[in-house]
Amino acid sequence: MLPIEVQRSATPKTRPAPEGLGFGKYFTDHMFRMDYSPERGWHQARILPHGPLGLDPGAAVFHYAQAVFDGSKVFRGKDGQLRAFRVLDHSKRLAASAERLAMPPVPPEVAREAIEALVKVDADWVPSAPGTSLYVRPVVMASEAFLGVRPADKYIFFIILSPVGSYFSGGAEPVRIWVEQQHTRAAPGGLGGAKAAANYAAGLQASVEAKKRGYAQVLWLDALEHRYIEEVGTMNLFVRIGDELITPPLDGTFLPGITRESVLTLLRDWGTKVSERKLSIDELREAHKKGELREVFGTGTAAVISPVGALGFQEGQLVIGDGKVGELSKRLYDTVTGIQYGTQPDRHGWMTLI
Ligand code: COI
Repeated sequence: MLPIEVQRSATPKTRPAPEGLGFGKYFTDHMFRMDYSPERGWHQARILPHGPLGLDPGAAVFHYAQAVFDGSKVFRGKDGQLRAFRVLDHSKRLAASAERLAMPPVPPEVAREAIEALVKVDADWVPSAPGTSLYVRPVVMASEAFLGVRPADKYIFFIILSPVGSYFSGGAEPVRIWVEQQHTRAAPGGLGGAKAAANYAAGLQASVEAKKRGYAQVLWLDALEHRYIEEVGTMNLFVRIGDELITPPLDGTFLPGITRESVLTLLRDWGTKVSERKLSIDELREAHKKGELREVFGTGTAAVISPVGALGFQEGQLVIGDGKVGELSKRLYDTVTGIQYGTQPDRHGWMTLI
């Protein structure tokens, strides 16, 4: 067990009302912090009041973007019990992301213990209204003040917590998505498979342009041929053509989503035909023409399942299915959230009681 020093906040904040939570607007009273130096490795685990980190403006993170993060959720069931979803898997992914950016990984068991200890301190911040949860955001970033380009030799690992409602203000209504044919997000061999802060910066301009056109997010195509479907916004993508559920294979250009993996597992449990294979935008348009494009949805921690109602192109838009929430999208949403809130059996051991 990690020794963690706890310094409690002397000025606890008032809890926000559940109906106004939105996503990521509020932070709890405490945060976790640990530091890294070559001599001491990861050291000085502590929980302290949520507040500024005190970084030198020369800190390498500001200049060369050595920063990775992750995101998971803790749920309060009707029974009052707190349950964390796949927290060790998220911690393993954080370590893999750090390694891709030449940063010292936080051992996944250490990150898991830190998350659980912090959630225990701020347990009364976990909201209980339907659809709400506590979002856990661990970050590893370079803190050494040095302007040469090399991996920094000092890092900070911190975890902050945010009580959240639904990710999309409109709830689980199908969203309209712009098919992005100019900008790309990540090329083969690049950072796309890591949860690097820089990947999110790379996507912002296209998402602003899509919003100006009246779309909620973009659908990303591959960087080489601008042909194969990769992701939707910051989520993994699933397409249902006839009875086949298709999602692009993990090729290192997008994140190995934990929700993606959970959805694949559930679909296989149900005996659904699932393919991890490349899917071109032409195949998708062809399927639409034949009336076989039944559902498109994104998967991610924040929104869980996000149905896509229409895909926009320069020359017009394709309406998916009947433009409403599809049958599998709904079943997956109900099952994943049922497991998370403890109303459905956790057959795969995804939940940790806190
Ligand atoms: C997710 O959890 O789906 C995301 O990747 C969004 C998050 C970066 C806010």
